[in-house]
Amino acid sequence: MKIAFYDTKPYDKIWFEPIAREKGFEITFHESKLNENTAVLAYGYDAVCIFVNDDAGEKAVNKLADYGVKVILLRCAGFNNVNLKAAEKRGIKVMRVPSYSPSSVAEYTMGLILAVNRKIHRAYVRTRDFNFSINGLMGIDLNGKTAGVIGTGKIGQEMIKILKGFSMNVIAYDPYPNKDLDINYVDLDTIFKESDVITLHCPLTKETRHIINEKSINMMKDDVILANTSRGGLVDTQALIEGLNKNKFAGVGLDVYEEEDEYFFEDLSNENVTDTDLIKLTAYRNVILTSHQAFFTKEAMMAIAEVTMENMEAYRDGENLNNLIK
Ligand code: NAI
Repeated sequence: MKIAFYDTKPYDKIWFEPIAREKGFEITFHESKLNENTAVLAYGYDAVCIFVNDDAGEKAVNKLADYGVKVILLRCAGFNNVNLKAAEKRGIKVMRVPSYSPSSVAEYTMGLILAVNRKIHRAYVRTRDFNFSINGLMGIDLNGKTAGVIGTGKIGQEMIKILKGFSMNVIAYDPYPNKDLDINYVDLDTIFKESDVITLHCPLTKETRHIINEKSINMMKDDVILANTSRGGLVDTQALIEGLNKNKFAGVGLDVYEEEDEYFFEDLSNENVTDTDLIKLTAYRNVILTSHQAFFTKEAMMAIAEVTMENMEAYRDGENLNNLIK
């Protein structure tokens, strides 16, 4: 069976090629992202393998179906970039990697929170220039402060363990609370009003789009720390910028951005990037913006490659499709 990989980088080849070969799949790596124009690259292939910023909207899905594609393999957990209705209508199976290494994302999120709180990114730049002043680098003790976790799935649960390890008082919101866990669930407004640190671990859906908006930001404590390592669309960028301009936030750690599909994973250091929101977010000294790398550990890459290829194997061998998205 033949699989066309979209939006690939050298590290994808390293992890996927040996497993695909071992399982007898023929794979082709494309650097282009999937969209309605690049769907043609999958002509004659059985499956496509896509990542977070590929566009498997209705038009792309219909083209893939026209070209004979029967499976969309997401090499990630989130699936907001796939039109599932269109896929179902055209008989395309969509599978994902629901859990590869929740710790990779949770640990990275804590890294962002620690860095923006204690201004480690600024200290790093200062000492490289032999500026050993600590003026302006003061943070807060996290011990005893309140952390609000939005979304208590696999990553949210790992995050809660880490936050508790810092002796934080953890409160959480999830519309589907997990009663088996020792989690102090509260409503969303309480998260916004009482948290010193807010961290987002829910998927991007119609309900969660812009869950961080002008109203929720206004409810937050002054000098709150916000971390978003889930999906850019959870945060209304304009409202965030407005909040930053009003000095609402002590720090903001972002690994995702609403318009990231145009920029993330690419080296644009020689280009004239004109997205003024992106320029602003990279310029605020209390913001750290990284390029969707929270998942990027050896363990996560290995698990992603293995499960993605197992998903394809299950389809080929007519087995149960455990990671099918319905
Ligand atoms: P999960 O499916 O295990 O958990 C998601 C949780 O969010 C569930 O408990 C669900 O009930 C909850 N949820 C659904 N609607 C909600 C709402 N309206 N408000 C609050 N919570 C809601 O997913 P997992 O593995 O924990 O991943 C969470 C998100 O992290 C993914 O959807 C993805 O967007 C993001 N992610 C980011 C990565 C990165 O590299 N930056 C890597 C992997 C995932």
